[in-house]
Amino acid sequence: MHKARRGAITAATVLVALFALAPRSLRAADALTWQQKEEFLLKGKITKVQEAKKGVTGALRVTLTDGKLTHDAKVQTIDDYKQVFLNEANFKDTYKFNVAGWKLAQLLGLDDMIAPSVKRTYEGKSASFDWWIEDIVMDEEDRRAKNLQPPDADAWEKETDVMQVFDQLIYNMDRNQTNILIDKGWHIWLIDHGRGFRVHKSLKGSQGPETDRSGPAGQNEDAGRGHLDEGVQSGRKQGRDPRLAGPP
Ligand SMILES: Nc1ncnc2c1ncn2[C@@H]1O[C@H](COP(=O)(O)OP(=O)(O)O)[C@@H](O)[C@H]1O
Ligand SMILES: [Mg+2]
Repeated sequence: MHKARRGAITAATVLVALFALAPRSLRAADALTWQQKEEFLLKGKITKVQEAKKGVTGALRVTLTDGKLTHDAKVQTIDDYKQVFLNEANFKDTYKFNVAGWKLAQLLGLDDMIAPSVKRTYEGKSASFDWWIEDIVMDEEDRRAKNLQPPDADAWEKETDVMQVFDQLIYNMDRNQTNILIDKGWHIWLIDHGRGFRVHKSLKGSQGPETDRSGPAGQNEDAGRGHLDEGVQSGRKQGRDPRLAGPP
């Protein structure tokens, strides 16, 4: 085998082994309650602003401090309503749904998969401030590109099942691979619910409304994760979202 290739495989194996060793209790975010995180997001003073690396809506990564704690937040001011956009009638992409997604997640006890989000003003505009999730190692797009497999397939499947149910519950149009983050313990975090909360009466991917282009479950490479790729494959790669920078 080629030396460089063998080295890369060894590095990937070590990385996977390290993830496997990291217990869930090591999460730094566990030190604060969700109420404390909400409070911090609402009141923390902004000391630094940068662009969030991925994404299409101009999301920001801001650093907040309350004098004792310093932590980052994802800030979104997007509040788009369009009659038709991305093949969808009554299109909405709004920071409000980030807050709504979190509130629902909190009620369902999913605060270990979805981070707190609050409504707050940013530069004169209403915005969502989401707790920046610690110890993210990659997103689902990276995982697939590197062909890394979770060390505990059962745990992974359980979390992806929760994701599927949550996305049905909020009728999420945008669970693309960059909205699935993976932390150092191989736990999944769900972000970016601005295109959720559609009001269709049928389940997503079923014989549903004409606006649902996600197709039947199982059409993509991972059985049972049918609409996982929707945004990336049908939106990003075909470049249908004009807000996307760069070539399709
Ligand atoms: N709470 C968060 N914790 C860590 N990273 C985040 C968080 N929110 C967003 N990101 C990162 O920022 C990127 C852009 O944010 P996202 O909410 O997906 O915006 P967009 O609606 O533009 O896609 C995400 O793909 C992810 O890499
Ligand atoms: Mg996103």
